[in-house]
Amino acid sequence: MFNKNSAPGKGRSRLRVFIFLTLVAILLLFGLIFGLAFGLTRRKHTKLDPFRDNGVGISKAGSQAESVCEALANSIDYPAELNVQKAFSMYYPEGSMPSLETLTNSYPRGIIPKGTPINSILHDVGPDVDLKSQMGYGRLNDRASNNGPTGGLPAFCRFGAKISTSSMTSILSEVWLPLESDPSISLAPPPKDYPTATAPYTITENGTFVLANGIVKEFKQSSKGSSSATSLQPSYDFTLGSQTITTQSQPPTDTKTANKKRAITNDTQSLSGDDILGQGKGWNGRIAVMGHGGQLGFVPMPSMKNYMGRYMFAVAGTNLGHFSGVGSTSWVEGSAFNETLTDFASRANHLTLLLAENVVNYFYGVKQGVRNSKDNDRVYRYYYGSSVGGARGLSAAQVYPQDFNGIVAGAPAVNFTALNIGQLHTSSVHDKVLRGDGFFSDLELWGPIKDAITAQCDGLDGVIDGIISAPQKCIPQLDVLQCGTNTTYGKSFSTCLTPLQISTAYQLFNATVVDGQEVYPAYWPGLADSAGSLKGTNGKASGWYQLVTLQRPKTSSLFNPYKDIRLDDIQKGNAANPGLVNAVQTDLSEFVKNEGKLILYHGTYDLTISPQSTVNYFTQARNATASAMQVDPTEIDNSMKFYLIYGMRHTRQGVGAINFGGAAQNDAGSRPYKFESAYDISLAIIAWAEKSIEPNTQVAARYQLRQAVPPSHVPTNGDGSDDDPQVPTTQQVYAGGLINTRLLCPYPLNANYQTGQNSTGENGYQAFQCS
Ligand SMILES: *[C@@H]1O[C@H](CO)[C@@H](O)[C@H](O)[C@H]1NC(C)=O
Ligand SMILES: *[C@@H]1O[C@H](CO)[C@@H](O)[C@H](O)[C@H]1NC(C)=O
Ligand SMILES: *[C@@H]1O[C@H](CO)[C@@H](O)[C@H](O)[C@H]1NC(C)=O
Ligand SMILES: *[C@@H]1O[C@H](CO)[C@@H](O)[C@H](O)[C@H]1NC(C)=O
Ligand SMILES: *[C@@H]1O[C@H](CO)[C@@H](O)[C@H](O)[C@H]1NC(C)=O
Ligand SMILES: *[C@@H]1O[C@H](CO)[C@@H](O)[C@H](O)[C@H]1NC(C)=O
Ligand SMILES: *[C@@H]1O[C@H](CO)[C@@H](O)[C@H](O)[C@H]1NC(C)=O
Repeated sequence: MFNKNSAPGKGRSRLRVFIFLTLVAILLLFGLIFGLAFGLTRRKHTKLDPFRDNGVGISKAGSQAESVCEALANSIDYPAELNVQKAFSMYYPEGSMPSLETLTNSYPRGIIPKGTPINSILHDVGPDVDLKSQMGYGRLNDRASNNGPTGGLPAFCRFGAKISTSSMTSILSEVWLPLESDPSISLAPPPKDYPTATAPYTITENGTFVLANGIVKEFKQSSKGSSSATSLQPSYDFTLGSQTITTQSQPPTDTKTANKKRAITNDTQSLSGDDILGQGKGWNGRIAVMGHGGQLGFVPMPSMKNYMGRYMFAVAGTNLGHFSGVGSTSWVEGSAFNETLTDFASRANHLTLLLAENVVNYFYGVKQGVRNSKDNDRVYRYYYGSSVGGARGLSAAQVYPQDFNGIVAGAPAVNFTALNIGQLHTSSVHDKVLRGDGFFSDLELWGPIKDAITAQCDGLDGVIDGIISAPQKCIPQLDVLQCGTNTTYGKSFSTCLTPLQISTAYQLFNATVVDGQEVYPAYWPGLADSAGSLKGTNGKASGWYQLVTLQRPKTSSLFNPYKDIRLDDIQKGNAANPGLVNAVQTDLSEFVKNEGKLILYHGTYDLTISPQSTVNYFTQARNATASAMQVDPTEIDNSMKFYLIYGMRHTRQGVGAINFGGAAQNDAGSRPYKFESAYDISLAIIAWAEKSIEPNTQVAARYQLRQAVPPSHVPTNGDGSDDDPQVPTTQQVYAGGLINTRLLCPYPLNANYQTGQNSTGENGYQAFQCS
């Protein structure tokens, strides 16, 4: 038996006690010295420390804000859950519009790893934001937003931190804290570093676009069969269908409204932005975490600028644990695989929110902000993301259901494994190496195929407006395109297709089937308007399949994504779901019980993520949540809404009414028509979460199209082949004038046209009813 007090051990034991006591004494002495020094430092901070001194919160721009901001990185006591490795903070005076490059250049050493391909990453982070093109939207209506060629931001404190998430992984997060204007302080000088590769541009009314340095380039159209280079109204925009749509020569006047409450339709109340955000001129009292698209591994700066400028949120964002462009998968490689994917899927945003809450409490003061007394007095917290960013919103609702009071998730990349296979399917349909004579170019898709289907299906909802708004009734008939047929398209060699091309094209409209089983739902008939995104995802999709689905350590050039995909591998990959990255959990009952609100939306012309995938997820989640809570599915409707956006491409752009305040809709000139909850879902989610205003209907606006991207920026399909798209890249701009508004109805309701009603102009939405 073991004897604790055996005699031979006693002498050594005393020696140990002596050494131990000496060590304790030395430690105590050091502790005292350090403690004193530390205490002095803390006391110095305490003076400026609103966290401890509850009345002092910083709210206004100026020298006090600046000095608190500069000291911020060294001032905050982080909770144990936040393992901050390195923090930095810097102050930007009112009117600043630091370019993405400038923001990146000011990272302290050790934030961006050596060898990071920063230029190409920034290209994917951009284009940068042009606040001026929003023409006074929201809270932009002050002197800052007219400063410089692209508008200026409010004064803000920029805080950033590298946070370790495991022994092998870390994330980069930023929190930007906006401040109330002090008109006695002069504005920051306009930036000198525009234009750059990611510079913004504005589009003037007559169709020229202006780079931020004032260089004017002529409007130029590259599509065949389109109007002349100087046309103010590109023919593809306005001649669809028989109805003539008139261009408004003047942009709409400023529509800011105060204290306005009125019914839109079907019991939706619309509150003005000021009613929702509060009348204060500074920080709106809330936190917004911003998502971003694809595999982008960088802080989503354009969205942060936009949401801070428009709404005055304290905005936060993260690189999700890696530095890369949207199409890269190499960051998944390596032994930290599971940790990396966990950061990407949910942990990075969770920790970023935690960081933001701590920074906000410290900087503005713990009594400041709009706080939820039922929720530990936390400041209200929102998440806005689309595409992969939308899936990350769902991940938050699934994994951290207490994190957000409201989540806006656009075109979410749920079932990422399956989605990548869907993208490989569309790529393979288009691949001329595979299809030989059956190959059709994306210009043929964008031109005659799109035009034929639009003509067939535009009127199915009762309105000829160039938009397919009843896709469930639309069954594309491509035979009218066949060469030699006596039809508009068949008669001309430049628009007709061979029987082989037609049979290939039909497959684009079909679900993705592997080994006899559907693995990804079909894209919808409007897909041809997204011809520009037909290709270019296969490198990413193939990489994801190998690294995540098959869990291989590296990608192989021998892997053929068109031939080597197997149903049983997909099933194994789905079952493993490393990091829960597929975001497929449908039981959102914890989120709902926590009074969380979720808004989903999806563009019906999306050819990157199928709108059917969101229909499926929404239906499944509504049922699963209801069943977990033992209530009827209709009771979940006051927690989750899903809107289909007719004529919208992937997350933004397109020819329909696509301006409704969606996440990451940062294109120049893309803004909601009115600063009201019914017109802006970014406001509607707040009115819903905080004031119980249920968004039963929303209104979306359609503006005139303009050539969007400087010619050197026109995206290609990435393979360098001669079928690189010449598809004109256009976008809607508010300055171009309003065409119409449309009613958005929560799924499964449809916006049904009321025969005889006028569907054009700003009251166009009133011609529809949800049923
Ligand atoms: C909306 O209002 C119209 C007209 O009052 C009605 O026919 C329709 O059923 C309503 N829809 C819903 C979802 O209540
Ligand atoms: C990641 O997690 C999965 C599932 O838990 C496991 O099968 C796999 O071995 C892990 N991979 C690594 C690299 O740790
Ligand atoms: C082609 O159609 C037009 C009108 O639909 C008709 O007038 C013409 O005769 C047709 N041509 C032939 C060769 O069938
Ligand atoms: C598309 O799907 C339909 C119905 O599932 C099927 O009949 C047709 O053969 C498919 N077409 C192609 C080109 O695969
Ligand atoms: C996701 O994939 C699983 C397995 O393939 C499938 O059962 C589920 O319906 C899919 N969910 C959606 C939303 O498509
Ligand atoms: C949801 O539940 C309803 C009945 O409550 C059922 O008709 C429907 O098929 C279910 N949908 C899904 C996707 O499970
Ligand atoms: C429809 O409304 C628009 C915009 O308000 C107006 O310009 C147009 O004249 C109206 N059309 C009819 C037929 O009333």
